[in-house]
Amino acid sequence: MDELKSKSEDIIKIGNEKFVPLLTEADIKKRVEELGAQISKDYKNKLPIFIGVLNGSFMFLSDLLKQVNIHCEMDFFKLSSYGDSKISSGNVKMLKELNADISERHVIIVEDIVDTGLSISYIKDLMSEQKPASISFASLLVKPGCLKYDIKIDYIGFEISDEFVIGYGLDYAQKFRNLPAVYILSE
Ligand code: IMP
Ligand code: MG
Repeated sequence: MDELKSKSEDIIKIGNEKFVPLLTEADIKKRVEELGAQISKDYKNKLPIFIGVLNGSFMFLSDLLKQVNIHCEMDFFKLSSYGDSKISSGNVKMLKELNADISERHVIIVEDIVDTGLSISYIKDLMSEQKPASISFASLLVKPGCLKYDIKIDYIGFEISDEFVIGYGLDYAQKFRNLPAVYILSE
């Protein structure tokens, strides 16, 4: 058995846990189009640089950039905070540095999900050291019930409840990132 999900029902079983559909491919596509249009308007003539936080943001960043119709650049860096568990470890480690020079640049940090806000507040402090012209945050998902840091997320795809989600870049122990839709842990 090496299929991601059973063909008869749209449910993902991982051991005793069950994940059910939360956002369809169509839901995501529509919202990503809206965000791309908004960002294109807000950053006209500013040559923004999109910075994706690996690994989770790769799919969102890729789809988002296809909806951005102004000149832009992009780069990635990699953080780790969760290890292989479903609960945030509470500390962040830099695993792969940013190569781009972001001083004086308009930076848009792209995340898959903001949970406690620890990662993005760490990123904000780190990026601010390089004196960019501006920093904003785009996240496909936000769990408002979990936010512990006072940080503004400028472009939000969807606000979701405080449950673990997988798919569309988001993993569970590194797997399930390749699901084209988002699934949520059900009781
Ligand atoms: P934060 O630092 O607590 O805001 O956590 C953010 C990071 O934790 C995200 O970039 C994800 O990599 C990971 N994460 C948070 N919630 C989930 C989830 O429900 N599923 C998968 N990864 C998650
Ligand atoms: Mg992440």
